[in-house]
Amino acid sequence: MHPDYLKLIEHSIKAKKFSYSPYSEFSVGAALLSSRNNIYTGTNVENASYSLSICAERVAFSKAVSEGERKFRAVAISSSRNEYIYPCGACRQFMYEFGKDLDVIIVKSKKDFIITKLIDLLPGAFDKRSLIQE
Ligand code: THU
Repeated sequence: MHPDYLKLIEHSIKAKKFSYSPYSEFSVGAALLSSRNNIYTGTNVENASYSLSICAERVAFSKAVSEGERKFRAVAISSSRNEYIYPCGACRQFMYEFGKDLDVIIVKSKKDFIITKLIDLLPGAFDKRSLIQE
C-alpha cells in the first residue's frame, strides 16, 4: 500500500466533522489524493430541497478539479456508521471521468479499510470513449 494512504484515511475521518447533514444525520468524509500529492477533502452537503444534496466524493473532486488537478491516485471514504460504506452510483460515474484506475479506500476505521479499484466498482462504464463516433 502507498505510504500516503494512511494519511489519506485519517483526512477522510477528520473531514466528516464538517458534514452538513441535518436531514439524514449521516456524515460522510472523503479525502482525495492527486498525482501531485495534494489532498482535497469533502463532506456531504444537504439541502431542504433534498435532491439538491451533494455527496462528499463529488465535493472533494470538484474542489480539486477547480484548482487545476486532473489526475488522481486514490480517494478514501469514511462515514458516521461503523461499517464499510461504498460510494453511490452517481459518485462512481463522476469519479470515473478522471480515471478508472483510481484506488478507492472504503474506511470503517483507521485500522479497518478495504482498497479496491474504481473500475471494479463500475464495470462497463459510460465514459469519454463512448462519445467517439467512428
Ligand atoms: N452520501 C455521500 O456523501 N456519499 C455517498 O457515496 C453516499 C451518500 C451522502 C448523501 C446524503 O447526504 C447522505 O449520505 C445520506 O444518503
